[in-house]
Amino acid sequence: MSSVARIGIVTVSDRASRGEYEDRGGPAIREYLDEVLTSEWEPVARVISDDQAVIEQTLIDLCDTENCCLVVTTGGTGPAERDVTPEATEAVSEKLMPGFGELMRKVSLEKVATAILSRQTAGIRGGALIVNLPGQPKAINECLDAVFPAIPYCIDLLEGPFLTTNEDRIVAFRPKKK
Ligand code: MTE
Repeated sequence: MSSVARIGIVTVSDRASRGEYEDRGGPAIREYLDEVLTSEWEPVARVISDDQAVIEQTLIDLCDTENCCLVVTTGGTGPAERDVTPEATEAVSEKLMPGFGELMRKVSLEKVATAILSRQTAGIRGGALIVNLPGQPKAINECLDAVFPAIPYCIDLLEGPFLTTNEDRIVAFRPKKK
């Protein structure tokens, strides 16, 4: 496998996909990863509508064809009728990783009472970890700071590229080999 980590960044928003609203979430995720990752990586970005079939196809494409080791979504995790990113994530995942959603909601609830409205989750498809974030750009740092220490080791377990981090921002935790 190539050592350059390919990371999918998916903005799920009807309005952003129609160009009625500037995509702020996707660029914020990219900026976060640029700041935190010291190993080589390249983004594979998509801006799509809140349509479950489109979200599922995009996740499948990023995991299976684009060979992403990590796919981060933003938006569509709430209770509204068109919020279906968690359903799409669950539908394409072979394994669910509920601890990601639990931890992100816990830290978000310390900041904002409405964090409980996000159904954000995570899952594994093939060699990729898919992580949902809420659509609010300020939620991106709050949520990723909480779960990122565990992401490089999760990708090791999926036999993906070895991710290293800027330790002033995030210390990746890798259990010592026995
Ligand atoms: N989490 C954090 N950290 N910060 C936020 O501002 N917004 C909440 C919640 N989680 C928020 C958050 C709100 S208001 C909603 S409706 C849900 O995420 C779902 O947002 P989404 O549908 O844009 O994904």
